[in-house]
Amino acid sequence: MLFDTTAIRNFSYVINRRKELVKRIKEEHKDAKKGIVIFFANFEDEQRIFRQESFFYYYTGIEDPGVAFSIELDGTTTLWVPGCSVSRADWYLCDIDFLTKNSKQAGIDHVKTLGTPVKKFTIHPFSPLDRYKEIISYTNAIVNDGGMLFSLDPDNADQYVEQRSLLSRFLAPNASHALASRPVDISHIAANMRRKKDAHEIELLYKAIDITCMGHEAAAGSMAAGNIEAEVKARIEYIFTASDAYTAFPSIVGAGKNSTVLHYQQSDGELHDGDLVVVDIGARDNYYCGDLTRTYPVSGSFTERQKEIYNLVLETQEYIAALAKPGYWLCNADESDKSLHHLAKKYLDERGYGKYFIHGLGHYLGIDTHDVGSYKKPLEAGNVFTIEPGIYIPDEKLGVRIEDNYWMTKKGLVCLSEQLPKKLEDIEQMMQQSFEDDQTEEANA
Ligand code: GLY
Ligand code: MN
Repeated sequence: MLFDTTAIRNFSYVINRRKELVKRIKEEHKDAKKGIVIFFANFEDEQRIFRQESFFYYYTGIEDPGVAFSIELDGTTTLWVPGCSVSRADWYLCDIDFLTKNSKQAGIDHVKTLGTPVKKFTIHPFSPLDRYKEIISYTNAIVNDGGMLFSLDPDNADQYVEQRSLLSRFLAPNASHALASRPVDISHIAANMRRKKDAHEIELLYKAIDITCMGHEAAAGSMAAGNIEAEVKARIEYIFTASDAYTAFPSIVGAGKNSTVLHYQQSDGELHDGDLVVVDIGARDNYYCGDLTRTYPVSGSFTERQKEIYNLVLETQEYIAALAKPGYWLCNADESDKSLHHLAKKYLDERGYGKYFIHGLGHYLGIDTHDVGSYKKPLEAGNVFTIEPGIYIPDEKLGVRIEDNYWMTKKGLVCLSEQLPKKLEDIEQMMQQSFEDDQTEEANA
C-alpha cells in the first residue's frame, strides 16, 4: 500500500451539514411549517464502477446504491432501503448493516423499506413504481398535512440526472400521490453549501491531491521515446489504484499533436524525442478529487521554442494566483477587470497568444472534478478551484497546460499542490531524478 488509506468515517460532518441545510431551507421558505427533503442515491450499472451521487454523499456519507434519504424540517431523518428478495450483503459489501447497527452515530432516526421487494437486490430508476410505495405513502401523509416537498431539481443538463428521471416518473398523469407534483428545488442552497469547503474537506482534498502528485511523479518517470501513451497512463493509474483511490476523470496523456486536444481520451500515440506530453490527471480519494496538469518533454529537456511557450503559461498562472483574493470572480464577463479568466486571457492577448488559450481558466473542485457552485457569485474564503492556463498550437504539435489546485482563504490563495514541481528546470530535474532512480533500481534488481 503506497498511502495510508485509513477511512475517515465521522458522521458529525454530514449531520451538521443537514442541520445547516434545514436552517437555510427554513430561512428561504419562512411559511413552511412542515416539510420533507428527499435525496435519491445513484443506481448500480454494470458498465461503471459504482460511485455515489455527489449531493447524496455530501449530506449522508452513505455509499450504498439505490437507497434514498429523507430529512424532515423538524430534523427527523430516515434512510430508505430497497426491499430485497435476497440478502444485499451476500452480493456486495453494503453499508446498510453498519448503518442500522450504528444509526445513532450516523444521525439516522429510522431505517425503512422503500417499497415492495425488487428482483434480487438491485433497484433501477425504471423499476416498477410500487418498489417506491412506502416512501410515496410516507411523503403523501406529510404533504396532505400541509407539508412541503423539497428535493434537488437543478436547472442544468448534467447534475442529479438519474434521480431527476426517477422524480419525473413519479409525475405520472393521474397519479394522486404527493410525489406526483414537482418538488421545490433546493439545488442552489445545496450547491452554495458545497462551494464553501470546511476544514475537513480541505484535509480530504489535500490527500487526493497528494495521490495525484504521486501519479505525476510516475508520469515523469515514464517519459521515454518509444513508449506508448497507454504505458504512461498505466503507471499513473497503478499509483492511484495501489493507493486505494480512483481516477476522478479519464486520465489525459497526450503526446505531440495530441497534447493540443483538450480532453484527449485515446492512448495509442507513441512518444517521440522532441515531443511535449500533456498529463492531466486526478485521483479521487474518499470522494474528493485532485486535478493537476503538467507538461513534460519526452527527451527530458525542453527546446527553446517549448521553453518560451511553457514559461508564458507558467507566468500567466503565477500572475493570476498572486492576484486572486476574495471578491474576485472565477469567470464573469460583466466584471472582466476582476474576473480571473478574463484577466488571464488579456495577459495572453497582450503577448500575442490569447487566441491559443481556448478553454476556461479554471473550475471549482471538490466531490466533483468540475464541482458545483455559482460562477455568478464572487470568490470567497473556503472556495477550492483550479487555475489551468494553456496554449495549444496544433500546427507546431505543441500543447502546454499547467494546472494547480488552490484554496481561497481570507488572505488570498493557498496552493494545495505546491509540492509538485512546475518550474521548467524543476520539471527537467524531476525527470532526470526518476531516470536515475530507475537505473539504480535496475542495477540493484
Ligand atoms: N482536468 C480536466 C478538466 O479540467 O477539464
Ligand atoms: Mn481541470
